[in-house]
Amino acid sequence: MLCRKLNKKVKILLRLTPGIEAHTHDYIITGQEDSKFGFDLGSGQADKALQEVLNSEFFEVLGIHCHIGSQIFETEGFTLAIDKLFSHFKSWEEDFQYFPRVVNLGGGFGIQYTSDDTPLEPEQYVMAMIDEVNRKMAHFDGKSMPELWIEPGRSLVGDAGTTIYSIGSQKEIEGVRHYVSVDGGMTDNIRPALYQAKYDAYTANKMNDKPVQTVSIAGKCCESGDMLIWDLELPEVTDQDYLAVSCTGAYGYSMANNYNRIQRPAVVFVENGEGQLVVKRETYADLIRQDLPLESKVFV
Ligand SMILES: Cc1ncc(COP(=O)(O)O)c(C=O)c1O
Repeated sequence: MLCRKLNKKVKILLRLTPGIEAHTHDYIITGQEDSKFGFDLGSGQADKALQEVLNSEFFEVLGIHCHIGSQIFETEGFTLAIDKLFSHFKSWEEDFQYFPRVVNLGGGFGIQYTSDDTPLEPEQYVMAMIDEVNRKMAHFDGKSMPELWIEPGRSLVGDAGTTIYSIGSQKEIEGVRHYVSVDGGMTDNIRPALYQAKYDAYTANKMNDKPVQTVSIAGKCCESGDMLIWDLELPEVTDQDYLAVSCTGAYGYSMANNYNRIQRPAVVFVENGEGQLVVKRETYADLIRQDLPLESKVFV
């Protein structure tokens, strides 16, 4: 509708769900992937979508897009996806005389949040993709290799960020758990509460002290689920100490929110020991900036 109104043609990538979902070291291969994203390859949905956009005067179908998941530590998920996609392109070539100029394979290059994570070098993912596409291109006579695009997200910026919290009160339940609270939580890092993401952390001002206790880091939101880290080894800590949670450069500040009307933190860039404030800490005044004065006559 917008294209018609503006009389514009848009270049698009058709997002497909190839039926491969990567979970770190596991791939779920399903005929028809249960996902809210993209057009399903297995059920004919993607074929219908392609036909529709090819027939539309408002779309130029540059190619396809898929994103099989995040925190992937092997190349197999990508090569499986390429296999599925290119096998399907064979039928598109026959049915619609269509072959994509661009194949966007999404993101998913894993990073090391904790010692359990074992990322590959970016070159390893990319070379595996190129090799597999080259292999598949042998089945397409006279076609040139499509442009391969990737969308690395966290692998570009994840480990560039560290979140520094002030440590607050502590609660020890003998033989059960030792909670250590901090002045942030799911408002500045939603990932642990949303899907149990794991992080490592250190006492920023006691980096050389040996860990002597196992604690769990509680966020300040009024939700039992607002726990940043379970079972973290730390030295003795007090409310004079700072907790540094590493690898928060991706999906941290960009996903920050005002749950419980908590203000977003400041952002400081640091290089060679020099710091520069680049985002100011939010204030209560910021939180009510959009609020308007009551016009009482509306309510009488
Ligand atoms: C479509 C798409 N591309 C790329 C990414 C980046 O993923 P990652 O940060 O895991 O590399 C995402 C993340 O959700 C995504 O949805």
